[in-house]
Amino acid sequence: MGSVEVSGSKNAALPIIYACALVSGKCVLENIPNIRDIHFSFEILKGMGATVRMLDRTTYEVDCTDLVPGTSNYDLVRKLRGSYYLLGAEFGRFGKAKVGFPGGCNFGVRPIDQHIKGFEALGGTVNTEGGYIEIESENGVNGTNIFFDVSSVGATINIMIAAATGKGLTIIDNAAKEPHVVDCANFLNTCGANISGAGSDMIRIKGVPELHGCSYAIIPDMIEAGSFMVATAATSGSVRINNVIPKHLESITAKLLEVGVEVEEFDDAVHVTAPEKLRKTSVKTLPYPGFPTDMHPQRCAMLCKAEGVSSINESIYENRFRYVEELKRMGAQIKVDGRIVSIEGGNPLSAAPVVATDLRGGIAVMIAALMCEGQTEIGECHLIERGYDDICGKLRGLGADIRKVECPEPVATQKAN
Ligand code: EPU
Repeated sequence: MGSVEVSGSKNAALPIIYACALVSGKCVLENIPNIRDIHFSFEILKGMGATVRMLDRTTYEVDCTDLVPGTSNYDLVRKLRGSYYLLGAEFGRFGKAKVGFPGGCNFGVRPIDQHIKGFEALGGTVNTEGGYIEIESENGVNGTNIFFDVSSVGATINIMIAAATGKGLTIIDNAAKEPHVVDCANFLNTCGANISGAGSDMIRIKGVPELHGCSYAIIPDMIEAGSFMVATAATSGSVRINNVIPKHLESITAKLLEVGVEVEEFDDAVHVTAPEKLRKTSVKTLPYPGFPTDMHPQRCAMLCKAEGVSSINESIYENRFRYVEELKRMGAQIKVDGRIVSIEGGNPLSAAPVVATDLRGGIAVMIAALMCEGQTEIGECHLIERGYDDICGKLRGLGADIRKVECPEPVATQKAN
C-alpha cells in the first residue's frame, strides 16, 4: 500500500493566473502545480511587465499592476491552450486585446468560435490575422446575454473573466460546469467580482469597476487524481490518494467501481484497491459531471487488462486517438472506428520504445509501461510534464522503477511577423 499527494489543478490554475492580469495589485496563489504550462504562463506575464515571485514551492505572488496589453510573446503563447485566457483578461481590463493563437494538445480541429462569439456579444470587434486574435472596442466591455452553442470550458471562463469588470450584467447560458469554472469564479469573487451561478449552466456576472488583490488556494487536480486512481487499478495496487475533492471524482470513481475496483472516500482523500482481474465496460466522455475526456486515454490503457471487449466513446474531441498507435506497439489490441475505441483486453502488454503523443496520451503510455514486464522508454516526455507535477518522483514513491533520462524541449518552428 502506498500514498500520493495530488497537486493543484492545472486547468483551474491557468485561468486564475491569467485572471490576475485583471487586477491592479498583488494576488497570492497557493497550491500552484509545478508544471510546464504554469511556468510558460508566468513567463508570458513577466514578459508583459508583471512581477511574479515564488514564495514557496507551490505559492506565488503575482502583481500585474504594470502589465502592458498586446505584448505577450507569440512563441510562448502558442505552447499552451490556456494562454487564450489572456484575451478575456486584456479585454476586461483595457477594453482591447491582442494575443497570438493558442497551442495545446493536437486533437484535430479545436475551434475558438464560441470565445469570439462571446467577445463580440460583449461589444468587441474581433480580428484574426497574421496569427493573432485582436479585440477592439470603443466602449470597453458591455454586459449582455450569451448563449453558447457547445459546452466550452475555455469560452465560459474567458467571457466570465472579460465581463467581471465590464459594464452591467452578463448572463452566460449553456455554461460549462467543470470544477475549474467554479474555482475561477471563486477567485474572481475573492478579488471583488460579483459572479453567481458558476457550476450551473447559467452564470450571472454583474460587472464591478475594478478588482483588488487577494490570497487564494487553487483546487486539487481531479485529472491527476483520476490518473493515479486508474494507474492503481491498472497495476492491481492499493493506494491512498491525498489532497482531492472526492465529489469532483464521482464519475471516475463510478466507472472504476464498474470494473471491480474498490474506492473508499474520505474528506480529502480516496483509497483505491484493485483486484488482479478487471471487468470489461463501456463509457462515453461528456462535459462535467460526465466522464471527462481528459481521463479517456488512461482508462483505455487500464482496460487492456479487462478480459473481453471494452469501449470508449469520445464525444468531446474528433481525434483524441493518437496515443492508440503507441499502446498497440506495446501489444494492445485496440481498434478505433469513428469516435469509438474498442479494447480487447486480457493479454499482457510488452515493453517497447514509445512516445507521448500529447499530455494525457503520454500518461496513458506511462500507465501501460507500469503494467508490463521489462523496460519501456517513453520519448517526448516533456509533454507529460506540461500537466503532471513531479510524475516520476510520485510514481517512484508508489514503488515504480522510473527515471527521467532527458526531456528536451522542441525548438519553436514558426515566428510571428
Ligand atoms: N469548442 C468549439 N468552439 C469553441 C470552443 C470549444 O466548438 O469556441 C468545442 C471543442 O472543439 C470541443 C468542445 O467544444 O469539442 C469542448 O472544448 P472546451 O472549450 O471545453 O475545451 P478547452 O477549453 O479548449 C479545456 C481543457 C482541456 C479539456 C477540455 C474539456 C484547459 C486549458 N484545457 O480545453 O484540457 O480537455 O477543457 O474538458 O483548461 C488537458 O488538460 O489534457 C486538456 C486537453
